[in-house]
Amino acid sequence: MIARKVRELGVSSAVFPSETPVAELRHARGVIISGGPSSVYDQSSPSMDPAVLAAGVPTLGICYGQQLITQLLGGEVRKGDKGEFGLAFLDLKVTDSLLFAGLTDHQKIWMSHRDLVAAPPAGFRVLASTTICATAAIEDAVRRIYGVQFHPEVVHTTEGTKILENFLFRICGCDKDWNPANRIAQVEDQIRDRAAGRNVFFFVSGGVDSTVAFSLCLSALGSERVCGVYVDTGLMREGETEFVEETFAGLGHDVVTVIHAEEEFLAPLEGVYEPELKRHIIGEQFVKVQERIMAERGLADGTWILGQGTIYPDTIESGGSNRDQSKAATIKTHHNRVPGIQKLMEQGLIVEPLADFYKDEVRKIGREMGLSGLLLDRHPFPGPGLAIRCLCSAEEHAVTRFSEGWLVPVHSVGVQGDSRSYAPVLAIDAFPSAAAKLQDEATELVNRSTGVNRVMACVAAREPLSHQRVFSSYITHGRLELLRRADGIVRQMSHESGFDNCVWQFPVILIPMGSGESRDSVVLRPIFSVDGMTADSVTMPDELLRAMAARVLEIPEIAGVYYDLTHKPPGTIEWE
Ligand code: XMP
Repeated sequence: MIARKVRELGVSSAVFPSETPVAELRHARGVIISGGPSSVYDQSSPSMDPAVLAAGVPTLGICYGQQLITQLLGGEVRKGDKGEFGLAFLDLKVTDSLLFAGLTDHQKIWMSHRDLVAAPPAGFRVLASTTICATAAIEDAVRRIYGVQFHPEVVHTTEGTKILENFLFRICGCDKDWNPANRIAQVEDQIRDRAAGRNVFFFVSGGVDSTVAFSLCLSALGSERVCGVYVDTGLMREGETEFVEETFAGLGHDVVTVIHAEEEFLAPLEGVYEPELKRHIIGEQFVKVQERIMAERGLADGTWILGQGTIYPDTIESGGSNRDQSKAATIKTHHNRVPGIQKLMEQGLIVEPLADFYKDEVRKIGREMGLSGLLLDRHPFPGPGLAIRCLCSAEEHAVTRFSEGWLVPVHSVGVQGDSRSYAPVLAIDAFPSAAAKLQDEATELVNRSTGVNRVMACVAAREPLSHQRVFSSYITHGRLELLRRADGIVRQMSHESGFDNCVWQFPVILIPMGSGESRDSVVLRPIFSVDGMTADSVTMPDELLRAMAARVLEIPEIAGVYYDLTHKPPGTIEWE
């Protein structure tokens, strides 16, 4: 988030592992040390090369970053008497700090800490405080080292952007010269370098990332040297294959062919319910299908490499930056980072033209290349497709009464701190009219209720929650077809009503919960986001919601329609 925010301000930025040696940061105009869930006193907590702090490069520590700087420079960090989580107010103590230039002396900020700086290192002065944290910001203007206990990168810190701007432009002296659309020529050069005379074989999905990456390869190498294949995995949405065929035909790219491989994907998913395992199976299956197709077409002769539409957050969330996979916690494994692909990467057989870009930047690049808005403005759709929206359960369970609602023993993925959670869902009985308020409370509710990571509300159901059961259920043709139908209805209504334009993504999830003969339910998950890294659950117009739920409930196998009220964090956008 910090890196993306910096780029949004027009400054190039990259994420590095915390222990990166100073020698590798020589070209940096500034260094930002991020927050994190550890305490500097833990044995295994991440540290940094202390030489960075002596290198004369302006440095800003955020949250844990401020504590780490303090510890390394001889100050004192201790556990606070109480934690400080959420909204807080910052009082400035000085008027002449460059970091807070142009700000009033009382600010709304976002805090998330328990440890705090008890005594700043020698040479530092305290810039600001809150009622709980006396050292909410510190600086050593001579060494140009700064620390803030709060999070300037999140929207809740109202002047956060201004603070980051001050650091970038007033302190680091950066130029506002980052624009992804200007990088096309450089990316094309990188593609030619990596290809080194070989051709590129590309799996396109019809999504923004793979289409832009594929188009970049085409423009860098020419259509003779680029071959695109769209694999129908059986995990696609209704009408998707036809859309892809038409789109690429419309673009004049007869280099894309469609391969039907439904059984190759569905057979190994039989009896599998664990999300990470599903992802691994699908990723490995992609590699197998790719090897088969390459062999069938005589492409396995060393003159071809594989192209992928991987973007920057995929790499970060799969457990690390480009350089080091060991540092960041694995939030989830993206299908383009499974072992088979890692092996190809080690052999230099992969080209990922967009691996350094965020989604909004990919769209800018696509626009600059003249790709149609119809393609570029599509909502993101995950590589593993409907498999991660079709939840499974190994056993049958009752839905049970829970402190503030009902505990649904369907496990969904969430992200709490920098780690991944896998927990049941809290369901509340009726969809309240004051949904907006509930969405804010949902995070609170998740934090309060140990063992759950999401809250969903019932919009319409054949039977009340007390009569629902979770059934033993896996991915089957029938359930996928059910999900496709429900998703088709939702997409059509969302498109026709214009609600589509109010959301960044609108996953529709099938959960194996029902009553009587109807053994599945549908969850609506409209969200707003800028980059997919964080997201807000969006309130839908009541009339549209009722009409949508009624249409979905016309499908006899569907027992109910629910609405996910959870922001990310603590939920993820997808349910797995
Ligand atoms: P989460 O669920 O992690 O999703 O909040 C963030 C964004 O990433 C998309 N997503 C994926 N995209 N392969 C992809 O290409 C994947 O394995 C994958 N998993 C999640 C998700 O749809 C959302 O836009």
